[in-house]
Amino acid sequence: MLAIIGGTGMAQLACLEISHRRIMTTPYGEPSSPLTFGKINDHEVVFLARHGYGHTIPPHEVNYRANLWALHSLELTRVIAVASVGGIRSDLTPGVVAVPDQIIDYTHGRKYTYHDNTAKSVTHVDFTEPYCQLTRGRLLEAAARANENVIDGGVYGATQGPRLETAAEINRMERDGVDMVGMTGMPEAALAKELGLCYASITVVANYAAGRKTSVHAIRLEDAHAVLEKAMVGVRNILEHAVELDVD
Ligand code: HPA
Repeated sequence: MLAIIGGTGMAQLACLEISHRRIMTTPYGEPSSPLTFGKINDHEVVFLARHGYGHTIPPHEVNYRANLWALHSLELTRVIAVASVGGIRSDLTPGVVAVPDQIIDYTHGRKYTYHDNTAKSVTHVDFTEPYCQLTRGRLLEAAARANENVIDGGVYGATQGPRLETAAEINRMERDGVDMVGMTGMPEAALAKELGLCYASITVVANYAAGRKTSVHAIRLEDAHAVLEKAMVGVRNILEHAVELDVD
């Protein structure tokens, strides 16, 4: 069974034939929403709305530990996380879809590990490649089959939010090598890694990052919503093909 975490612009998965919903509890509290089980083209999928079904949970308050724990407890292996981003690199323009391959974490104060129990010995998880290459490859293959353009690779910079960045912060991030900026990629990816889940992300550029092009003086969120709505049609198309490729 494939797990899909939906973000802003994807609080529901229209192509999912729902069989049931399950409210879960974990040692870390409740996930953002009940898990929705169903099928896409006859393949089993579980869907989780990262910000809750009514999109009420801001990025810094998402219970990432409970979300990933709940999925892990279903004994599945693969997680695809959909997330919206601001585009920094010049080819990451609004509406473009990417499958990032690296992360820089600028978040703080979030519950970012399962290894904070001091009674246990110290554990360091390898995070050289933060995303699962197999799952990334399948997403790219799914996009090719779906005839959707996606950018292969890119550095995702995770900011704390909920406020957007200043232009100077974006300039600094660009100097760091960040290509796209979002608020939910971390600690989600690291927690998935700690649990041994094969996690990859598909990102949708909702807007130019602060200080760039049409966002030179401000980010117009009304425009970003319209961009996301349109681009998610392509993402859903990719996901429909990705489930076909979800063979072990
Ligand atoms: N910054 C941070 N997160 C985002 C943005 C942005 O510009 N756009 C969508 N998510």
